[in-house]
Amino acid sequence: MTSKYQIKDIDLAPQGENSIYLAESRMPTLVRIKQRFAQEKPLQGLTIGACLHVTRETGVLVQTLKVGGAKVVLCGSNPLSTQDDVAAALVKEGFNVYAWSGNDSEYYTCIMSVLDHDPDILIDDGADLIVIAHKEKKSILEKIIGGQEETTTGVNRLRVMQEQNALKIPVIAVNDASMKTMFDNRYGTGQGVVSAIKALNILFAGKTVVVAGYGPCSWGMATRARGLGANVIVTEVNPVRALEAVMDGYRVLPMEKAVIEADMVFTSTGCKDVVVGKHFEKMKDGTILANLGHFNIEISVKDLEEMSSKTKRIGEYVDEYTFSNGKRLYLLGEGRLANLVVLGGHPSEIMDLSFSVQALTAEYLIKTRDKLEPKVHTVPDKINEEIAKVKLETMNITIDSLTEEQEAYVKSFEIGT
Ligand SMILES: NC(=O)c1ccc[n+]([C@@H]2O[C@H](COP(=O)([O-])OP(=O)(O)OC[C@H]3O[C@@H](n4cnc5c(N)ncnc54)[C@H](O)[C@@H]3O)[C@@H](O)[C@H]2O)c1
Repeated sequence: MTSKYQIKDIDLAPQGENSIYLAESRMPTLVRIKQRFAQEKPLQGLTIGACLHVTRETGVLVQTLKVGGAKVVLCGSNPLSTQDDVAAALVKEGFNVYAWSGNDSEYYTCIMSVLDHDPDILIDDGADLIVIAHKEKKSILEKIIGGQEETTTGVNRLRVMQEQNALKIPVIAVNDASMKTMFDNRYGTGQGVVSAIKALNILFAGKTVVVAGYGPCSWGMATRARGLGANVIVTEVNPVRALEAVMDGYRVLPMEKAVIEADMVFTSTGCKDVVVGKHFEKMKDGTILANLGHFNIEISVKDLEEMSSKTKRIGEYVDEYTFSNGKRLYLLGEGRLANLVVLGGHPSEIMDLSFSVQALTAEYLIKTRDKLEPKVHTVPDKINEEIAKVKLETMNITIDSLTEEQEAYVKSFEIGT
């Protein structure tokens, strides 16, 4: 029998309530959806199982889904990213939550606890919930209407399952929606470099920042680091993305050369072993390392531990590794998503967009119930447009619209003379 919840400390609830309240005040798009959901109850009678970073913004999302009629059951998608006060506040509101910060050993047990509630929809961040359902809880797959995946790495994993004919439920790639990737991956993670480094409060100006990978997450990180006066070097394995970085004005080097100059190294590739022992050997004293990719596989913590003679925790989630020659390297967030671990994740204004996509995607899954094949699907354009329109309205920004003549023109092949 699954317990109703498993969290760190229920007495943290009042602090969590304030935190969710503050986040909601910066999430006007999701609030509009919540108001409509309250009237229409599109999720009535459904159980939604969610594996997400348990942050204040996730609190606003699950409240929205609940107002829409769903029972929501939640676990954390990363052992270090749970905000314990938020988890407590949600339990007080009646949600089943299985998450606490530092939960490494029972991470998968918590996922199983969510699946034990027999969810109709799975909302995932990294695909652990959907993968475990396929491996350990096959009996519930037939009943599941569909899944929704929040991040690039999760979508990549699900596409591999699809290629292997192993994916048994339709999944919507929320990550790939323009209203998610263009803002969350880019601007959210872009601000993430600054958030992560806040733990050390060091100057960017004049420093050399190495950004590994040049996907949407890294576009934001490179822009923000350059904006703060850093010299940015990009490393890539994809020639098109490498060329894009060159044309955006960055130096592009192999990691082995880049690390020699680095003051800070940020990884966001979704790939393993991007920064390992041979790179640590070449780094300068004082180099700071942080990963912003989904899993803690990009920077080898194992190599750092083996190569250093002393490890010291010098701040919250800041570890100093001292080598036998006296060189010190600093790792943020234990090599896990540093922006989430060190500063609680993307700003609420960004999650307003990502979680609006999640809420409307849940509604879309119900509307298209039994019509979608078991594969990875994209979010309909209409959802992106609706969210962008509302977000602009809430920002008091108006835009032009096509005149009747312009509309007729763009639909015809008429050309000027
Ligand atoms: N920190 C956050 O808050 C946050 C937010 C969104 C996404 N993510 C995660 O960040 C990661 C990147 O997301 P994205 O949307 O930018 O992905 P992406 O796949 O579009 O970009 C990753 C880039 O890294 C490159 N790459 C792969 N292996 C490499 C290697 N060994 N060396 C150098 N480059 C390499 C790829 O060619 C690609 O261009 C994913 O794991 C994603 O899930 C994190």
